[in-house]
Amino acid sequence: MQTGAGNSAEPREVAAAAIVDAGRLLLAQRVSPPHLAGLWELPGGKIEAGETPADGLARELREELGVETVVGARIGSDVPLAGAMVLRAYVVELKSGTPEALEHAAVRWVDAEQLAGADLVPNDEVWLPELTALLESF
Ligand code: CDP
Repeated sequence: MQTGAGNSAEPREVAAAAIVDAGRLLLAQRVSPPHLAGLWELPGGKIEAGETPADGLARELREELGVETVVGARIGSDVPLAGAMVLRAYVVELKSGTPEALEHAAVRWVDAEQLAGADLVPNDEVWLPELTALLESF
């Protein structure tokens, strides 16, 4: 079956990473668009045609943070996005490198309490229960 952009029944996936290390979650601060600039998100991006979500998310994290990662299980629910896209979160393990804000304004590590007080992008707020549970499991 043809799965090219605009020719598929499946929405295009945007994958976001819940990177947890030493009991803290990595958040990245958006620079654009204007209404989201300054808010914090799970880093990630659009999966390209021909990529698996795991490969695409690892590529986005290499580009955005300069790290090598292992993409694990999905968490939380699907978030429908405008433009026939769907946002999904995955638990991701850092393999090598230190995350740097190559395409974001900043990155920071938060514990459960700091996560609760963080200004997240609205889409990512739906995952707060699962992200908090993930942090508390470490
Ligand atoms: O970098 P790329 O253009 O592939 O993707 P993006 O612009 O970062 O994300 C694509 C869409 O997903 C945008 O509408 C983002 O606002 C949204 N997104 C989100 O809501 N939460 C995330 N953690 C990541 C992306």
